[in-house]
Amino acid sequence: MIEAMLPLLKPSPYGGRIVNVSSRLGRANGRRNKIGDAILREQLLTDDCLSEELIDGMVTKFLEQVKQNSWSSIEWPQMYTDYSISKLAVNVYTRLMAKRLADRSEGQKIYINCFCPGWVKTAMTDWEGNISAEEGADTGVWLALLPHLKSSRTEMCSHFL
Ligand SMILES: NC(=O)c1ccc[n+]([C@@H]2O[C@H](COP(=O)([O-])OP(=O)(O)OC[C@H]3O[C@@H](n4cnc5c(N)ncnc54)[C@H](OP(=O)(O)O)[C@@H]3O)[C@@H](O)[C@H]2O)c1
Repeated sequence: MIEAMLPLLKPSPYGGRIVNVSSRLGRANGRRNKIGDAILREQLLTDDCLSEELIDGMVTKFLEQVKQNSWSSIEWPQMYTDYSISKLAVNVYTRLMAKRLADRSEGQKIYINCFCPGWVKTAMTDWEGNISAEEGADTGVWLALLPHLKSSRTEMCSHFL
């Protein structure tokens, strides 16, 4: 979807903004919920190794293992494994795109970020979060309105980090 939307992002002196809603559960090297495969983890954390093929390969491998009922939580994030892998893919894809978009010239710049809204009272959490939807949205709004910077960069922003 991002590839399809890029040409539609109108050039402006302030640059375009892409904000992906992610989760702290998808951190590649989270303290309590990291991906178990150390080699893959290292690749995902190394900007020069990041590629669509690496990210797709990770997701495809997990889906294949689920189909075959052979997946193990030793290799993958331990908590909410499927959700965490989907958010891990969002996080690393955001970093990959940030690197690609960084070379754009003035007037063509696009800033891409992802963030964790926190644990929010929504249908997804059965309204059990500890903050309101409005509070969960504030980091996303802040990222969408980021001021123009001299160089593009990515941040993983979170109420928890
Ligand atoms: N809530 C949290 O604590 C929390 C924490 C971390 C990250 N997040 C992330 O925040 C984002 C929003 O979550 P939420 O808590 O607001 O969840 P939510 O209350 O369940 O809302 C999800 C929204 O996504 C829409 N949706 C789901 N599948 C879709 C599809 N295939 N195509 C188009 N729209 C679709 C739903 O539309 P309908 O209403 O029409 O079904 C709904 O409006 C998600 O990316 C979630 O992973 C949430």
